[in-house]
Amino acid sequence: MGFVDRSQENLLSKMATGNGHGENSPYFDGWKAYENDPFHASENPRGVIHMGLAENQLCFDLIQDWIKKNPKASICTPDGVDAFRDIAIFQDYHGLPEFRNAVAKFMAKVRGNRVRFDPDRIVMSGGATGAHETMAFCLANPGEAFLVPTPYYPGFDRDLRWRTGVQLLPVVCESSNNFKVTRKALEAAYERAQEANIRVKGLLITNPSNPLGTILDRETLRSIVSFINEKNIHLVCDEIYAATVFSEPGFVSISEIMEEEITCNRDLIHIVYSLSKDMGFPGFRVGIIYSYNDAVVNCSRKMSSFGLVSSQTQHLIASMLSDDEFVDRFIAESAKRLGIRHEVFTQGLDQVGIGYLKSNAGLFLWMDLHHLLKEKTFEAEMKLWRVIINEVKLNVSPGSSFHCSEPGWFRVCFANMDDSTMELALTRIITFARQSEELRIQRKRQCWASNRPRLSFSKRRMDDIMTTQSLLSPHSPIPQSPLVRART
Ligand SMILES: Cc1ncc(COP(=O)(O)O)c(C=O)c1O
Repeated sequence: MGFVDRSQENLLSKMATGNGHGENSPYFDGWKAYENDPFHASENPRGVIHMGLAENQLCFDLIQDWIKKNPKASICTPDGVDAFRDIAIFQDYHGLPEFRNAVAKFMAKVRGNRVRFDPDRIVMSGGATGAHETMAFCLANPGEAFLVPTPYYPGFDRDLRWRTGVQLLPVVCESSNNFKVTRKALEAAYERAQEANIRVKGLLITNPSNPLGTILDRETLRSIVSFINEKNIHLVCDEIYAATVFSEPGFVSISEIMEEEITCNRDLIHIVYSLSKDMGFPGFRVGIIYSYNDAVVNCSRKMSSFGLVSSQTQHLIASMLSDDEFVDRFIAESAKRLGIRHEVFTQGLDQVGIGYLKSNAGLFLWMDLHHLLKEKTFEAEMKLWRVIINEVKLNVSPGSSFHCSEPGWFRVCFANMDDSTMELALTRIITFARQSEELRIQRKRQCWASNRPRLSFSKRRMDDIMTTQSLLSPHSPIPQSPLVRART
């Protein structure tokens, strides 16, 4: 499965059999490694723990409570069946008015009610994935390009490029200034495109960032807006992690910048949103395009026929998001729980001196393991990644799959598992770091001319780590951790 049989190449289209999906990247290889040996607390305690999936699974209890208390909203229930007929036949690509109203209100709430969204500009899509492809189809011709600051979400290579023929060109951001998107980096990327004779049609930013977990400050957003305005290119802002900000400074949406006294052609600005991360509903495929450009609203609405949100889902979401009390509580509680996860995780890494980018949003951490690389190359990064997957049994994602310009960075997701799996994952990382350090010291001491020990776990200790559900070490972060305090 996955790879196309060569004999099919002549039978099927080039697009279908080509590599445009980007499945052959280490990002997806990690998923496959997990699928071949998935961790299960009782059935496969030595299996791979999936830390490569940016899912928000920390608040399902709240959602389940709401669903139980509102049985009408699901329609296919005895309480909801009266609405079934009308909803089942509804197929207007504008979407249910109550859905658009509720989503517009939710988008404002997530942005602290500092801005308003017009329900008539809400266009549906199959998740943010579908929204990005629709934007690429609307804004660029095959061969034209979008600039994208690095590191960026690997799915963009599929979503924006595969079926549209649009290109993505990196805006190289660096760790020396915490991967800030500077005017200099933007100009350099734009110039490189001009030299290569590629027409740039837009800039795609992700705020808060996946994989960095950081937010763009007001100054950076203003400078980005003035850049795209001067070049007369589009700005697509992926804000699907807007409600994952768990500490100060708060999130600033591009929509807030639009309300300020700035000179900018509003026709150039578009927001991509979805409920996949903020609510934790990737399975519902609720994606949103919000454009300030009337023509883009119209075109993308026509294209949305290929990726509408089912009317049953619209009905459920409309009811849920119209419940102000629930939404307020959910947003606050979700951010609080993410903050606790982040704190536990970073405290664990601090104990063994593993660096990471300071962040205050997202479902992941951008971990710095460059000190464990044998040399500063992406080959060495892949070697280390294989050790982490095959011996430490953690699926983390290497920076190269996010087009990071520097080797040694890894994205680690921490919100797609329960507390005990998270503790075990942390235990594995901490033990790995300690063993790596021991090895380093040993190597230094012995300074063998040849036959040096490989970077690998001792079998006996590894067996312990694979199954230990809580840390026994006196240096354990767990007993004192906020995760434990929150539970007790
Ligand atoms: C930045 C970013 N954009 C888009 C997506 C796709 O989201 P959806 O599930 O809504 O299609 C993801 C998923 O991880 C993402 O991280």
